[in-house]
Amino acid sequence: MRIALIYGGQSGEHEVSVMSAASVLKAVAGKMEVLPIGITKDGRWIPGLSPQELVETGQREVTPPRREVDDKLLQNPSGFLLGKLKEEVDLVFPLLHGPMGEDGTIQGLLELAGIPYIGGGIAASALGMDKALMKALFCQQGLPVGDYRVFSRKEWEAEPQRIIESVEADLGYPCFVKPANMGSSVGISKAHDREELKKALDLAALYDRKLIVEAFLDGQEVECAVLGNDQPEASIPGEIIAGAEFYDYEDKYIKNDSKLVIPAAITQEQTAEVQELAIKAFKAIDCAGMARVDFFVLRNDGRVLLNEINTIPGFTKISMYPKLWEASGLPYPALIERLAELALERFHDARRRRS
Ligand SMILES: Nc1ncnc2c1ncn2[C@@H]1O[C@H](COP(=O)(O)OP(=O)(O)O)[C@@H](O)[C@H]1O
Ligand SMILES: [Mg+2]
Repeated sequence: MRIALIYGGQSGEHEVSVMSAASVLKAVAGKMEVLPIGITKDGRWIPGLSPQELVETGQREVTPPRREVDDKLLQNPSGFLLGKLKEEVDLVFPLLHGPMGEDGTIQGLLELAGIPYIGGGIAASALGMDKALMKALFCQQGLPVGDYRVFSRKEWEAEPQRIIESVEADLGYPCFVKPANMGSSVGISKAHDREELKKALDLAALYDRKLIVEAFLDGQEVECAVLGNDQPEASIPGEIIAGAEFYDYEDKYIKNDSKLVIPAAITQEQTAEVQELAIKAFKAIDCAGMARVDFFVLRNDGRVLLNEINTIPGFTKISMYPKLWEASGLPYPALIERLAELALERFHDARRRRS
């Protein structure tokens, strides 16, 4: 099986993606033929570029293409995909986090190109990326989420007083402020008072035109991995013990002070509830292949609330998604193979039309 591994990308999560790609390449070495395609931060696609080389191009700003590829194709990724990639590989693993990768954009390109790919389709990816749409859908399906409000950047700029008052009246402090479309905690802050709330909304507004403010949830952070297409399965849940006040970018990827505990320290009933909700959340956004579903298990009353679904979870060797499957009996290389199978299965199923 020949796989193109597309990684890097233009989002704030470029570095995370590069780390994930390095782990995947190592895990499948000798088992699958992999063509890595690095996307630089300025959006150039470089076939044959290893994660290490992509890191170096960021530092040097010059990029020697690793393969004989027409320069015009490099400037035009869709041309490259449509013209060449389909001949070279059986499927694509888009291992990109955040906007322009995890959000349905790459998935749309691959649909147009007629190339099978790992993970959710266009709609699932877009819904999983947008915290406001995702939560609206969860609510509509009767799945439990915390209180939240959504504002546009324009509203925040035009009527800051009204927004502050509505947050204070409806949610109170502390609260969490997030850009609707991001990931890896980029642009997220915990606001303890009015001053911090203003700063937090300004910060989130740098990343998106849609802002979400959530009530603070005091709970254990529990995550569950889902794998499958029409009959998705849930893994043993794990728990994140954040090293900082919350699980922010630095804590996730730089300081590494946070701990993963598998299985999560929750009751059997809570475990069953997490697994059931994980599958429901997966189905709610019409996901396929994989997703990591994140929860809060509240400290005061033990309730389980959904936080978010991630359609392209981290894949470093210390990432929760592969670790949860390992703990559930599916080792990392077998997990990648299973994801590839699921991608092909979904691709052929989608093409099963009446002629
Ligand atoms: N409503 C909340 N209450 C308490 N902690 C939160 C809340 N929302 C987010 N957090 C903290 O912030 C982290 C990042 O938020 P999250 O919504 O998961 O965004 P991302 O998509 O960037 O991972 C969470 O892992 C958690 O530690
Ligand atoms: Mg998260």
